[in-house]
Amino acid sequence: MASLVALVTPLAERLRTATRVTVLTGAGVSAASGVPTFRGANGLWKQHRPESLATAEAFARDPALVWEWYAWRRSTIAACRPNRAHEVIAAWGRRYADFTLITQNVDGLHEAAGTRHVVRMHGSLWELQCWNRCAVAPARWEDRRADFVELPPRCPHCHGLVRPGVVWFGESLDPEVLRQCDAALDCDLFLTIGTSSVVYPAASLAPEAKRRGAYTVEINPDTTPASATLDLAIQAPAEAALDAVDRSARIS
Ligand code: OAD
Repeated sequence: MASLVALVTPLAERLRTATRVTVLTGAGVSAASGVPTFRGANGLWKQHRPESLATAEAFARDPALVWEWYAWRRSTIAACRPNRAHEVIAAWGRRYADFTLITQNVDGLHEAAGTRHVVRMHGSLWELQCWNRCAVAPARWEDRRADFVELPPRCPHCHGLVRPGVVWFGESLDPEVLRQCDAALDCDLFLTIGTSSVVYPAASLAPEAKRRGAYTVEINPDTTPASATLDLAIQAPAEAALDAVDRSARIS
């Protein structure tokens, strides 16, 4: 696949000299693992309206319906394994002392591939929060059950409802997460991989990194609002492009 090698060569060269590397990922990075994306022909938002499943109002109205959807996503994703894209990103995390991975994904596949200290903009599918924010429950806790006996599940402390530990539409992002994102924009190389670049504030990160002087690269088989504005757009699936970059780095 000569064309893919040619496409990734400028990125491979930057990776050789960069010392501060930041990667932002979206749903497309997990597509090859079998995790459905949100937008596009078979995207989740083609079959479901975000406002009926991914808002606090929807949960208040019908927690059982919202939980059925999240329980389905948990059981789907529990069967998925990291792909080559997750693996190459995890290897970069070991190679660069100054490396940050920011993800919009809630699936946990970056962590499963071995990336540590993932900055999760939209929370985690594998964490729960007490809906009532009861005084006894921690702010969030891990719960990796894929099958719940009781839906909606209950808070182990106050026995009220629990909600998924994800950020819903209309909710604010964790200020500490935003601070970590901002700090990671001061880098040599910023990659935005597998995201449609339409959801903010994630979509603002690559342009801001470029403004601060980073070389910016997009990897996505489709064009997005970011494609024409960044330094390099590699139009290819993440798992193929990152595999090609990794091989290129090893033979040079
Ligand atoms: P989207 O579903 O909006 O976009 C996925 C992107 O991945 C698209 O641009 C596809 O072209 C691309 N893609 C598909 N297959 C790919 C592959 N193999 N390699 C690389 N790219 C591929 O997902 P996000 O941009 O992550 O928010 O969506 C952002 C947010 O919108 C999500 O975090 C979620 C959603 O509503 C919340 O739930 C808060």
